[in-house]
Amino acid sequence: MAKDLTSLEDSNRSANATIHQVSDPSRRRVLMASAVTGLFSQLAGGCATLSGAGAAMGARGRPGFAPIAPGTGDRLVVPEGYVAQVIAPWGEPVGVAGRMPAFRLDAGNSAEDQSVQMGMHHDGLHFFPFGDRSDRGVLAMNHEYTDDGLLHPDGTASWSAEKVRKSQAAHGLSVIEVARVADGSWNVVRPSRHARRVTMSTPHALGGPAAGHRLMRTAADPEGRQVLGTLNNCAAGMTPWGSYLSGEENFAGYFDAGREIPEHHRRWGLREKSGYRWAEFDERFNAQKHPNEPNRFGWIVELDPMDPTAMPIKRTALGRAAHEGAWVAVTRDQRAVVYSGEDARFEYLYRFVSRDPIRPARPGQTAAQANRDLLDHGTLYVARFDADGTGRWIALVHGSGPLTASQGFADQAEVLIKARQASDAVGGTRMDRPEWIAIDPIERWVCCTLTNNSARGTPGQPAADAANPRERNVMGQIIRWREAGDFDGERFEWEHLVLAGDPANEREDARGNIRGDLFACPDGIAFGPMGILWVQTDVSATQMHRGEFARIGSNQMLAFDAHDGRFLRFLTGPVNCEVTGAAFTPDGRTLFVNIQHPGESPGERSDPRAPRRFSNWPDFLPDGRPRSATVVITRRDGGVIGT
Ligand code: FEO
Ligand code: CA
Ligand code: CA
Repeated sequence: MAKDLTSLEDSNRSANATIHQVSDPSRRRVLMASAVTGLFSQLAGGCATLSGAGAAMGARGRPGFAPIAPGTGDRLVVPEGYVAQVIAPWGEPVGVAGRMPAFRLDAGNSAEDQSVQMGMHHDGLHFFPFGDRSDRGVLAMNHEYTDDGLLHPDGTASWSAEKVRKSQAAHGLSVIEVARVADGSWNVVRPSRHARRVTMSTPHALGGPAAGHRLMRTAADPEGRQVLGTLNNCAAGMTPWGSYLSGEENFAGYFDAGREIPEHHRRWGLREKSGYRWAEFDERFNAQKHPNEPNRFGWIVELDPMDPTAMPIKRTALGRAAHEGAWVAVTRDQRAVVYSGEDARFEYLYRFVSRDPIRPARPGQTAAQANRDLLDHGTLYVARFDADGTGRWIALVHGSGPLTASQGFADQAEVLIKARQASDAVGGTRMDRPEWIAIDPIERWVCCTLTNNSARGTPGQPAADAANPRERNVMGQIIRWREAGDFDGERFEWEHLVLAGDPANEREDARGNIRGDLFACPDGIAFGPMGILWVQTDVSATQMHRGEFARIGSNQMLAFDAHDGRFLRFLTGPVNCEVTGAAFTPDGRTLFVNIQHPGESPGERSDPRAPRRFSNWPDFLPDGRPRSATVVITRRDGGVIGT
């Protein structure tokens, strides 16, 4: 115990030191000067993670709003001077011409209706402007999962094929066209030629080394080159060539693996029975009968949001994982570097470096079309964080080290399909649930939220380490690293930006070192206008407002002031929601955020046959069902968000 406390104190010191370093103007100038070349390439490529204004200004701004109190009650709160407007809740038609069924308040829409309506449980999103416009464009977003207790009028009673189809239609992605109107508010444009749903019925191509591999072939797809659907899509990024990247996260939870679970499936977390109950009416989710079907999930999906006819593609070169999402940096010679983690206890952080540089579009071609196979060729690495504050990227390349046929990796495709096993073999660092990643456009830090890991240090589980310093880590932390040289450097330096949690917590190993407004379980993270870092949280409904979480309030969104190391609370969400997804218009004057699972029932993800309602946000109808929705945030004076 004493040893653990020492390491905690050490990491606290290191995090505090970080804050002093960032706030030391002389050091900051040096850092900015050394970052200029790489920053230029990143911005020239359209900077993947920073979608707001001010990126090119080179100096980091300071949050300029009056922070709000911790959240309570069934409402969404933003600071004085800001306006929050709800658009596109679950069930609204996305705007496919001739197919715009209205949402039924009793959840009585059919699976067919649902396939052209907003899916359930909005998560990552990104705004793709028309040209450089800040008043019109498309929003692409993920729908992570369904709560079937809310999805059907009678919940999960009388489970049926139609209910499975509706659940599958409420998963996937939505693309909607949005426009600002004269009074400054935003509308969903309906109909729109861009409007689109991607569901479990949508064909996806497989790209990269695992396409066509024997482990990807099924009875329905003997070639192993096309998969129906995408699921559990969590966070989202975008590429410099204008495509949308979506992570397939906890795919294991959709398959029934039976009692005798093969070692490969066991390593990926498949269980005897799935809570979604799809296998009861859709046999491909029976992993005993279709053992390769799970291998076709857990990939990063790339979608061209501007072309509603473009088939989404699963990019196998980026590795299979319980992918939270994927975020792109650009090397000085214009190769794409894709960072991705897996939101699972004791799993890994990955980096992919493309073989080829990003190609400019030829006449008559879009940038997305010019780079259609860019992410199919390159090298995947897993991160190792060492105790001395440095780290190393270990290549997952067939034939190197233990990644050989005799160790269970027949070829590169098998290394990618079994990326967890490959990472185990080469000694990657087992992390505290990596969620979102954001790349600092000013100082080139790559920031990653490690949301929590209550199993860390418990019997039979990995102990705390330098990068994951707390046992029974219920509060989470934000780690950041900077590559040596360019974004493809083999080594990096790393440190904690912050350990989340209440500094006054009685439990020493849950005590954080936040300065300013308190939060726990960081999840969404993004750089916005003026290089300000934004953080969103996902405390589970079972913990919120209780015990050591009592002073933290509802899930929220905060801005980080790098000049003094303080966090400022900007938004608090309705009852038991998660706050996720942050996308700014190019002028930085509009922010889109998703509110996921308002009214989530504590202790149960789903199933209440007669669901008890903990929230009726955002409709506030007496018998209304809570609905995930997008929130559009603007300033009353039309100014840049957060400044
Ligand atoms: Fe779906 Fe990792 O949050
Ligand atoms: Ca998340
Ligand atoms: Ca989360």
